[in-house]
Amino acid sequence: MGLGKENKGKKRIIMKKTILITGGAGFIGSHVVRRFVNKYPDYLIVNADKLTYAGNLENLADIEGKKNYIFEKIDIVDKESVMRLFRKYPFDGVIHLAAESHVDRSITSPDEFVFTNIVGTVNLLNSARVSWNNSCQGKLFYHISTDEVFGSLGKEGYFTEHTPYDPKSPYSASKASSDHMVRAYNHTFGIPAVVSNCSNNYGPNQFPEKLIPLVINNIKTNKPIPVYGKGENIRDWLYVEDHASAIDLIFHNGKTGETYNIGGNNEWKNIDLIRLLCSIMDRKLNRTPGASEKLITFVKDRPGHDLRYAIDSSKLQKEFGWSPIPEFADGLEKTVEWYLTNEKWLDGILSGDYSKYYDRMYSGR
Ligand code: NAD
Ligand code: TYD
Repeated sequence: MGLGKENKGKKRIIMKKTILITGGAGFIGSHVVRRFVNKYPDYLIVNADKLTYAGNLENLADIEGKKNYIFEKIDIVDKESVMRLFRKYPFDGVIHLAAESHVDRSITSPDEFVFTNIVGTVNLLNSARVSWNNSCQGKLFYHISTDEVFGSLGKEGYFTEHTPYDPKSPYSASKASSDHMVRAYNHTFGIPAVVSNCSNNYGPNQFPEKLIPLVINNIKTNKPIPVYGKGENIRDWLYVEDHASAIDLIFHNGKTGETYNIGGNNEWKNIDLIRLLCSIMDRKLNRTPGASEKLITFVKDRPGHDLRYAIDSSKLQKEFGWSPIPEFADGLEKTVEWYLTNEKWLDGILSGDYSKYYDRMYSGR
């Protein structure tokens, strides 16, 4: 039983569990934090985030005043800060999402990925080990990972929990390394741990450097839509709230030492997905059908671009009865609607560091 001490003048309340969620101000993390804060009023949720370019507390404006929610601004690469955090709160569980998450950035500056994704994860594991030294009963370190650790598929087949690791980008290599460290701490030191590997997410609050929000924003502002190579690469898309519901199930029911694959069973060639987005945007913006497609521009391919990702999530479906909810067309429609009605959120991001990154990234392509 953890004692929740609230910050910002909130009252002390008794909580059933105290859970650390790292990276909760980011895209997926904000959906996970919101779900846990609203669904489990007797859990104290501590969101620890450095607020890098990808972290945005506006993502959580609707729950920031809740009694069972606390935000802590920390950099997980800073060992001392992580130790202090574990001394301050009696964590029963950790749901670790904080990461550098964009493949293109990992190609231009891999070092940050090594620091945050590998060193940051080891700092959390070390602190959990010290803090849980006396008893690991009821504790769990849940590490959120990606399907990109498995490398690239050809035209056939799926990634299962037994697919050998074969990461190809600095991002996926750093995530693979952190997955291995989590499993090693479970095996060697007995830290109760689970790992899940998920396919590409989409939905509200995704930073517009990733494909779907980037395309929506470029269509809205009449900018070219950069398609890497021939647009033949395939991704398996999952609505972000389906990922959050899977995380909830795995956190509460997952067996320590196990791995769970999460995916949308929803493969799309990039060019087909972009064309679908163009048609949705034409309708939403009352443009002539075909107008947005004219913005499609084929650009230089991403170096080492993985051809295809596709997840077999049958273990999760069989063991916990999980399945993705919205049809892709409905999920995309909701996502487009969210970006069009949350202009302030998008403008805030576009006026900051991101516009400089965008110019650097696409000017030479
Ligand atoms: P994101 O980039 O939107 O958010 C990352 C968050 O981590 C941000 O809030 C950022 O401020 C925080 N962060 C970064 N460095 C930090 C540090 N040193 N200390 C503390 N906080 C730090 O990422 P996302 O897309 O929400 O992904 C979250 C997790 O899910 C990542 O671990 C990622 O590898 C994994 N994942 C993402 C996808 C996807 O499609 N986006 C798919 C599968 C798995
Ligand atoms: P992205 O959203 O960066 O996710 P990931 O690389 O982790 O799968 O990219 C999704 C796909 O879209 C990937 O095949 C690269 C491609 N892509 C483009 O064609 N143009 C773009 O501007 C971006 C950002 C991505």
